[in-house]
Amino acid sequence: MNLSALNTTALAMVTPGKGILAADESTGTIKKRFDAIKVESTEQNRRDYREMLFRSDGMKYISGVILYDETIRQNAADGTPLVKLIERAGCIPGIKVDEGTRPLPSCPGETVTIGLDRLADRLTTYYALGARFAKWRAVIAIDKDNIPSMTAVHVNAHALGRYAALCQAANIVPIVEPEVLMDGDHDIERCFEVTRRVLDEVFHELRIQRVALDGMILKPNMVVSGKSCPEQAAVAEVAERTVQMLRECVPAAVPGIAFLSGGQSDEDATAHLDAMNRLGPLPWKLTFSYGRALQAAPQQAWAGKAANTPAGQRAFSHRARMNALASRGEWTA
Ligand code: 13P
Repeated sequence: MNLSALNTTALAMVTPGKGILAADESTGTIKKRFDAIKVESTEQNRRDYREMLFRSDGMKYISGVILYDETIRQNAADGTPLVKLIERAGCIPGIKVDEGTRPLPSCPGETVTIGLDRLADRLTTYYALGARFAKWRAVIAIDKDNIPSMTAVHVNAHALGRYAALCQAANIVPIVEPEVLMDGDHDIERCFEVTRRVLDEVFHELRIQRVALDGMILKPNMVVSGKSCPEQAAVAEVAERTVQMLRECVPAAVPGIAFLSGGQSDEDATAHLDAMNRLGPLPWKLTFSYGRALQAAPQQAWAGKAANTPAGQRAFSHRARMNALASRGEWTA
């Protein structure tokens, strides 16, 4: 393991004024996104859509791009590998390596993320294809009282530890993503408690499994009110509670924290990140690793038509620039 290369890559992923584009939707997930804009999810449409993003001006606000297995192997229309387009734009290619979730036996409504079998071999292949970082998403359901179970928190944290250790052995920076979902009518205090419990367990496992904290990136949810909670916390409260929770759980050795957007509106995701960065100085860089909050606008603008490519690129560049400003605490509504 080359710890100094891992640390250099991790720091580059959280360069101030840049963040990560999560373009790693599985074939099933991108189909849902395309259904919403009435575009057929063919291999070529998926390629054209992603090529549009990777060739856009907005890539100057992006440090790294998370790809899906299909995409890391695809070529642009002119034959250039998509990975090369990303590198030419000055960005680092990354790869989603988990294989999704499965129901957790004896824990109704909860899941465990799978994909550890043969992961070491897959990481070697992905490194050869150009990936310098990876992502594994654990999904933690939440309710007002009994969920998540200790079981779900433990098995998902353990898998994140196993994944992160294997990544580092393959000289790939792990993005460690434990996502506490927004779904539910729980309040922000419950989200705070649960997220803190989850991150404590994750860092405990990372420590036990000897993961180098300076060679990883954390990708957490923000501390927010449940989507259907009647009382929605304001931007300032989300920022304060999230930063407080991170200060309590995340060692300063971690170079950076890149949030998921998790179903927040585009503007909320930007406003929350901006408000957190205004609470500095902080021990780690705080930036974005958004999927939906960067891509919903370009998907609408593009709508599967080649003639709309410039409009799609403008929509993407705008969201990327807003979030880049937020990563410095310099965004204004
Ligand atoms: P969202 O920002 O849409 O939550 O996606 C980020 C991601 O990579 C989820 O794994």
